[in-house]
Amino acid sequence: MRITFRWLPITLLILAFSTVSSPQQNGSAPHLEKRGSTTQLIVDGKPFLILSGELHNSSSSSLEYMKPLWPKLAGMGLNTVITPLSWELVEPREGTYDFSLVDGLLAQAREAHERVVFLWLASWKNGMSSYAPVWVKQNTKHFPRVVQHGKEVEILSPMGNATEEADAKAYAALMSHIKEVDARDHTVVMMQVENEVGVLGDSRDRSDAANRAFYSAVPSELTSYLLAHRDSLYPSLRALWEANGAKTSGTWAQVFGDSPGGDEIFMAWHYAHFIQGVTAKGKAAYDIPMYVNTWLAGDDSKPGSYPSGCPEPWVVDVWRAAGTALDLYAPDLYAENFVEWCRRYHRTGNPLFMPEARGGKTGAANVFYALGEEAGLGFSPFAIEDDTDPNSDLAASYRELATLAPILAEHQSAGDAHGFVLDKAHPSVDFTANGYALHVALDEIFGHGTDMGYGLIMADGPDRFTGAGKGFRVSFSPINEKDRQVGIGTIDEGVFEDGKWVPGRRLNGDENDQGQGWRVDSRSMHTEKVSLYRFD
Ligand code: DGJ
Repeated sequence: MRITFRWLPITLLILAFSTVSSPQQNGSAPHLEKRGSTTQLIVDGKPFLILSGELHNSSSSSLEYMKPLWPKLAGMGLNTVITPLSWELVEPREGTYDFSLVDGLLAQAREAHERVVFLWLASWKNGMSSYAPVWVKQNTKHFPRVVQHGKEVEILSPMGNATEEADAKAYAALMSHIKEVDARDHTVVMMQVENEVGVLGDSRDRSDAANRAFYSAVPSELTSYLLAHRDSLYPSLRALWEANGAKTSGTWAQVFGDSPGGDEIFMAWHYAHFIQGVTAKGKAAYDIPMYVNTWLAGDDSKPGSYPSGCPEPWVVDVWRAAGTALDLYAPDLYAENFVEWCRRYHRTGNPLFMPEARGGKTGAANVFYALGEEAGLGFSPFAIEDDTDPNSDLAASYRELATLAPILAEHQSAGDAHGFVLDKAHPSVDFTANGYALHVALDEIFGHGTDMGYGLIMADGPDRFTGAGKGFRVSFSPINEKDRQVGIGTIDEGVFEDGKWVPGRRLNGDENDQGQGWRVDSRSMHTEKVSLYRFD
């Protein structure tokens, strides 16, 4: 094979890929690794793309309930299940741990050849504290609550040092247990710490402790972080800090303003401090990737109507200033403007992962954008057990992506994968790759068009591309040699079997609109390879 300079980076990545697969490295725990232009999850020495779903909150509290579900989830192409695990069940009495549910869930997952991301439902879930054990809930003196309008509410205050200590102790015990039972199998690939934290109903905690802290000095760790990262701060955070004089010392009200926006930053710092602390204790026991998720704010909504302090994109910097134990900040991405939220999270080195998203047809399409365009670590619709039809659109997307995963991971690192979702409102996208300008549009032939198309395209050597998805067509024009035309040499459908291309039909005629464009049929999911040539 002749390797031209242009193809050297991808060739090196392929070599690197075979190197990381060595048995010696298979022994290392799941971890995140910067590879080329992105950060990937490495499991058993190889990049691992999470094709997942999150269970309903209560499903995994019962092994009986879960037993029939695992094979169904595997049957729809999931390689991972986001599995809730609550503090109340792990430590029902203070200091007494019960890991029988953990062991049972791991055994069931392994039997179904599934990986697991455990979701540590502890001090907070959707802002509230319903999953804390009763011995925590009842002892409001030792484990203080958020105060609103002069009254304690059922939200543990992140100011509570004893709460952080107790949560961290249980979490560390859980992580040591996981290490003990899973360090060889790596069934657990990542951990979510808490769920959608933040104060609901007000922009901040108004307890005496919180009021005292609010009118005290902002910790210098935060102000020095803002100063050191000024140019890369989220624009609205920077604007708010600068509008208040870009001060490097002062009370919270002086530095960020006595406003809901200032309150949100104050809460973000305190939740972050608490959770970075819990995470650090867990990592000291077993160091695998750990993240927090976010209840996304609505447009123009105020902190408190969504959990104030949650790692919304504009306070991720505050979370980072509070500690380095957390590996990533993840959106629960149900919003219509999916692409925009992906971009808000996939920035300044934060890899994109969404533990909750819409499933069904929308999820089947969005997963291509997330993994293809934004180098996502994975995708995971919520309430995954509600539709386990192995013939669903989501299952078809997952199956196709599973065969493509090793190749896609290489192209994510090389930074030359493109993903897209097309519909009537967004009927086309344009991008450049591999020396060509690509116009990708909803497919149509003989006057019949499709309403929805999605997929991804990767450069595949000089004048060659690989694509997967359905319902789109691509026209190519050269970036240089603008006066020359581009012809389609060949189009083959096929499959990747263990990373090796096995061609099927040669597509031409109607399947290729008589050579007018690269059509990827809307009726079913396809992977295809195209080769191009130029003429005058
Ligand atoms: C988001 C939460 O994180 C989930 O636990 C669940 O409550 C869903 N919302 C319900 O839509």
